[in-house]
Amino acid sequence: MKIFAAAVALLLASPALAQTPDIAASKSLWESNNLFCKNCHGKTGEGAMGPDLAGRGLSASQFQQAVRKPWGVMPAFTTEQISDAEIAGLTAWFASLPKVAETAAWRVPLAPEMPRGQQAYVSQGCAQCHGATFDMPRAAFGGRGTDFATMKELVYNHTTAMPKFEEQRPGSRLRMGNFSTLRLTESQLKEMYDWAHDDLGFRPELRAELVPSTGTTYALNVTNLGEPGKGLTAQRVTINVIVPAGATVTAATGDGYKGVHMDEKAKGNVAEWQVPRIAPKDVKAFTVTLSQAPAKPEDLKGTIRWAKPGPRTGPNNDVVNFAMRPPAR
Ligand code: HEC
Ligand code: HEC
Repeated sequence: MKIFAAAVALLLASPALAQTPDIAASKSLWESNNLFCKNCHGKTGEGAMGPDLAGRGLSASQFQQAVRKPWGVMPAFTTEQISDAEIAGLTAWFASLPKVAETAAWRVPLAPEMPRGQQAYVSQGCAQCHGATFDMPRAAFGGRGTDFATMKELVYNHTTAMPKFEEQRPGSRLRMGNFSTLRLTESQLKEMYDWAHDDLGFRPELRAELVPSTGTTYALNVTNLGEPGKGLTAQRVTINVIVPAGATVTAATGDGYKGVHMDEKAKGNVAEWQVPRIAPKDVKAFTVTLSQAPAKPEDLKGTIRWAKPGPRTGPNNDVVNFAMRPPAR
């Protein structure tokens, strides 16, 4: 405790330390998975759906005001999500960059042919992080049979509701901010919910875990995270592991193995399994053995697709992409 107090006193006593933000660290924070601001403001603050920040000359207090009390559609972020010191660091990094001539395109652009609920979803910024078809929440909702009241909590009181909805991974931050009821009205949010629930339909919540087993054998577990009696069952499931360049499949185990074939979508050979159904809490275990290890762990990857339930309108592009986790550092 004494040492801590002494360290604080030292920090306070040396304003130079507090006033020289680490620009390289601020850049890597912006680029990291802990902040998704870049989805709206661009990889180097060049702007997209959100205004450009590079070279604009905003002060740290203007920056802070915009993040804590945004005046428009931007959600508000708490000090646990981004600290005042981190904001000061980002201000310094953006001040060191040249002003951009032209902002970048939105990651998911608004289109006139979109249904109303989807238009609200894109224009309120959700699509910049969740993609055109709201895949991740539709799966979390499908897996848990979520109602509109829960969605409201998750959007307006995100930072308090989210940890109750799903256990937070240790060391990771919540990257979505708290939306304002004044900017995103409840009726707009209801339109989004109805679009996701009625037009598209909720998705089963499937997760794949691909890890090294022994030698060049890799274990793949596919789990349905849904709650029994509430969650959705995936039917006619196709699981593909893309064979990395230079390797061949020497063995494979698990129900429904169909062998290796050329796949158009993967633009290469895939090892394929077909499983009739994966119900909530089911875990399906597979292994694949390669002639040689992939160059990088994440080069070994694949997809899960299922025939039902699919989107009620539009093409069925529902997919879960997975890759081998790099070893923990
Ligand atoms: C959903 C898209 C979106 C996300 C995510 C987002 N912003 Fe914004 N940001 C905006 C928009 C739109 C504005 C314009 C004002 C408003 O809507 O409040 C804005 C305004 C700002 C401004 C003020 C710019 C000016 O010209 O005055 C700053 C600074 C800012 N955002 C920083 C951040 C930071 C830092 C994060 C991440 C913690 C972030 N934003 C996340 C969309 C977003
Ligand atoms: C800055 C990126 C970003 C924006 C913008 C955003 N979200 Fe999220 N959202 C996330 C992330 C990431 C999570 C997972 C929890 C976290 O890290 O905060 C999440 C979680 C959720 C969840 C909880 C269920 C789940 O899938 O985990 C819902 C519901 C949700 N978002 C809806 C919305 C809606 C509706 C909007 C627009 C009004 C929106 N989000 C805007 C990034 C974003």
